Amino acid sequence: MCGIIGFTGLKQAAPILLEGLSRMEYRGYDSAGMAVTSPEGLLQLARVSGKVAGLYDRTENGAAFPGACGIAHTRWATHGAPTEANAHPQVSMHGRFAVAHNGIIENFAALKKELIEKGYAFTSQTDTEIVANLLEDSYRGDFQEAVEKMLARIEGSYAFAILCADHPGELFAVRMNSPLILGLGEGFNLFASDVTALVSHTRRVVYMDDGDYARVTPDEVALFAKDGSPKALRETRVNISLAEAEKGGFEHFMMKEIFEQPEALEKTIASRIRGGEIVLDDFRLESESLKNIQKIVITACGSAYYAGLAGRYAIEKLCRIPVDVKLASELRYEDPLIDGRTMLIVLSQSGETLDTIAAMKECKARGAKVLAIVNVAASTIARLADHVLYTWAGPEIAVATTKGYTTQLAVLDLFAVYAARQLGRLDEEEYAAWMQKIRELPGLVRKALALEPAMADLAVLLKDAEHVFFLGRNTDSALAMEGALKLKEISYIHAEAYAAGELKHGTIALLEEGTPVIALCCNQALLEKTASNIIEVKARGAKTIAVAPEGAAQEVLASCADRCVFVPAADDIFSAMIAVVPLQLLAYHTAKLRGCSIDKPKNLAKSVTVE
Ligand code: M6R
Repeated sequence: MCGIIGFTGLKQAAPILLEGLSRMEYRGYDSAGMAVTSPEGLLQLARVSGKVAGLYDRTENGAAFPGACGIAHTRWATHGAPTEANAHPQVSMHGRFAVAHNGIIENFAALKKELIEKGYAFTSQTDTEIVANLLEDSYRGDFQEAVEKMLARIEGSYAFAILCADHPGELFAVRMNSPLILGLGEGFNLFASDVTALVSHTRRVVYMDDGDYARVTPDEVALFAKDGSPKALRETRVNISLAEAEKGGFEHFMMKEIFEQPEALEKTIASRIRGGEIVLDDFRLESESLKNIQKIVITACGSAYYAGLAGRYAIEKLCRIPVDVKLASELRYEDPLIDGRTMLIVLSQSGETLDTIAAMKECKARGAKVLAIVNVAASTIARLADHVLYTWAGPEIAVATTKGYTTQLAVLDLFAVYAARQLGRLDEEEYAAWMQKIRELPGLVRKALALEPAMADLAVLLKDAEHVFFLGRNTDSALAMEGALKLKEISYIHAEAYAAGELKHGTIALLEEGTPVIALCCNQALLEKTASNIIEVKARGAKTIAVAPEGAAQEVLASCADRCVFVPAADDIFSAMIAVVPLQLLAYHTAKLRGCSIDKPKNLAKSVTVE
């Protein structure tokens, strides 16, 4: 995830900015940069593709950049590859403004067109360069006025650090749906997107609200609300250690990432629903070519494979195209029935999973058009695919994927609705209704996070279990697999998932007195069926936990399951994204009670680049 820092004071800024960037390195990034105003009022700029260490070298550890006011950035590529030209800060055409940006400008294409018509030239593929040029275009000598005019033009989510060479010592910090925190000092002030970059300088901070912007000088921070009205600074003290700050105050990265899901989903979804349409910028298959597709094959490994299993229901239901979901490690050695009329969807958080790459190459060689749904920009899979849709979850550090999985589901859901519309399977009203359902998902996930204390409680029931079974039908059977994998990989408890209807064909023999069985009942049409499976296993001694949507299911399940967990209701085909949250939390708390190494489970690697 990108990191921003801005500093203005009486000391040299560059070493402080570099140290701030180093502190934010743990978030993951692929390029870095810094802009500092020289004592003569010149803008000094250094950007590197790769690590912050390169920036230290380029600026002689900062010594080559005199001046006490500057901004810096670590970039996790979204718009444009992780090259030096696309690194931030981005500078306006006449070199007056420098901007570091986290987030996405949704209306960048229209703004860019307008600026090009006015004669502005662009040197990067970023949406941020548009912001720098908009500032230049609005500038009549008043820095604050230029910032306000620029803000009135842009849409999207962003945090900005803005520097103007004409106004040494003065910076602007802007926040909208992307974090930014002001740090108050004596003879200096600074701000950053991450508290880790502040705590070695000050413990006095002000958390900005969405829409706020601040004018920051060495001896004053003036805060304004979106409408331009001045706001009082509500100062708080940060008492966490540096190590705690890196994990956002959570004990483990996995928990931090579970709680980042609403924001990651918002980023993945919001910028793709624009002007009443789903806009898949990097997917350029015309509706005619889509109509020629006879089947879709989804391939992936591990949780990404389970995301594919869940996403299949949305695509088949809405597009009425057959979808096969295949394990990449198997597909690569099949003689797959794939040709030019097959669309291959490849799912991968890292974009580097060896089996997935091999399966993709095999299918590509047979003529399949490849759409990759990937989190890491410019990763091998992203580069090899014909089309790429990024999940924009930000870096995932815990080995057990959480936000990687849910954002994959989000992109599959967007794709399903988009393709159904292109194929003429949804009329305008239905299309709008499905988009609305997708738009609501981040908020529902946020509500599901409130189950955390309840799941910590339930974990006590699981912690000494030898085996745990997960059951579900239809979309719930795909979810059951992800739930079981989460529990296995971090708590080391043997867990298996079964399609609930399969129980009586063998699995039921495994049940013993007290065996925990987690029954997923989110598919409302099949609720009664799964409820009778709960009764079946309970009669054989199982301790049953039902996970179901709030509403009608509550009454049915209260009378048959030992424990119930109710999640916010969503459409059946999207329910996995919501109901996985308590399963992630349950796995986490069970592993914690068992004293396991949660972020780095034994025998596992984050990215499996071997066969
Ligand atoms: O990076 P990828 O999405 O391609 O990784 C695929 C699997 O290795 C990954 O999902 C793995 O199963 C996770 N550890 C599950 O939490």
